[in-house]
Amino acid sequence: MWRVQFYKNNYDEREHQAVGEVLNSGWLTMSQKTFDFESSFSAFLGNGSKCLAVSSCTSALHMALLALGIKQGDEVITPALTFIADQNVVEMCGAKNVLADITSMEDWSVDPCDIESKITEKTKAIMIVHYAGYACDMDSITALCKKRNLFLIEDCAHTPGASYNNKPLGTFGDISAFSFFANKNIAAGEGGMIVTQNAELYEKLKNLRSHGMSVLSFDRYNGRAVSYDVGAPGLNYRITEIASALCLVQLSKLEGANNKRQKLVELYNKQLSGVPHISIPYKDFSRGSSSYHIMPILLAEKIDRAALIESMKNDGVQTSIHYPAIKSFTAYKDKVLSTPKAEYVSARELTLPLYPGMTEEDVDIVCDSLIKGITRSAES
Ligand SMILES: Cc1ncc(COP(=O)(O)O)c(C=O)c1O
Repeated sequence: MWRVQFYKNNYDEREHQAVGEVLNSGWLTMSQKTFDFESSFSAFLGNGSKCLAVSSCTSALHMALLALGIKQGDEVITPALTFIADQNVVEMCGAKNVLADITSMEDWSVDPCDIESKITEKTKAIMIVHYAGYACDMDSITALCKKRNLFLIEDCAHTPGASYNNKPLGTFGDISAFSFFANKNIAAGEGGMIVTQNAELYEKLKNLRSHGMSVLSFDRYNGRAVSYDVGAPGLNYRITEIASALCLVQLSKLEGANNKRQKLVELYNKQLSGVPHISIPYKDFSRGSSSYHIMPILLAEKIDRAALIESMKNDGVQTSIHYPAIKSFTAYKDKVLSTPKAEYVSARELTLPLYPGMTEEDVDIVCDSLIKGITRSAES
């Protein structure tokens, strides 16, 4: 149906083989592939990172708040331009979301000054997202957390392979959360990783992941344990062996895949430079290297976004939006304060297709269709 899809899997025979190995092993949930993935991810992030693979980034974010003791009456500062999972987990803990706005129309990362202005006596933690794989201003944010004694949670759903001043994203927070959802840089359908450098938090998170049980089902399957204790209540946020097998292969392909993404983003930037009625964020980004998770653009006010999406769809080009304003959702409209810059972007952002297997011709097709649609919209 699509000439250029928004996203396509970056799979080959290696993923098929890895999944086959799991199916042949006779055991489908957390065991050797998961342990291997966790240790590979720890080595990949370095800096003393301790990693636990989980069912999703949302589970990881929820576990992070629980492990840090966030509860009713607490406030958590969350990014205004992000996926709703960030706000949902805060709500699920009974705490209050306080949105921090983005920095500018060129830099859509959360603004450290706006974070600081929103800190109250009730604030317990700051959650940030590295939008599209571009690092937030980590010097300012970590200094602020230190000064005000606040926990830092990094939403790293977009960031595998990205860094800030040569230090991998996901190694700055007290706890960090990665996503391996279907269209992510490491994709397994569903899956996530929770990361900490703190041994005590690591033990808490391990218990939270699997019902608070003292031993894994795998140990009982292997005859290494008969029964178990439950020291504190927990959840089932375990990953499957199939997802871990896919993630292990995807991790080994990450650098090459991110390099391809970078080349495609550079090509987009070149082709779209000077095109009227659009601008591209992060063009002069200098806080580190990106993982180029998505290709967002900003439309001028006179462009009708819905009509443009329809026109591109008619050309066979699939697009997306990252993200609708938090305030636009029924569950949040009366709960969060306005964040004017993020709301401006939410109303005018358009995400173009981007995936490692995309060709230069695909970029041409997208850009031709975009320019045609914009010209038509600007003239009407
Ligand atoms: C920024 C951001 N945070 C959190 C999530 C949630 O990830 P998951 O689907 O793995 O729960 C996503 C997924 O789309 C995301 O993009």
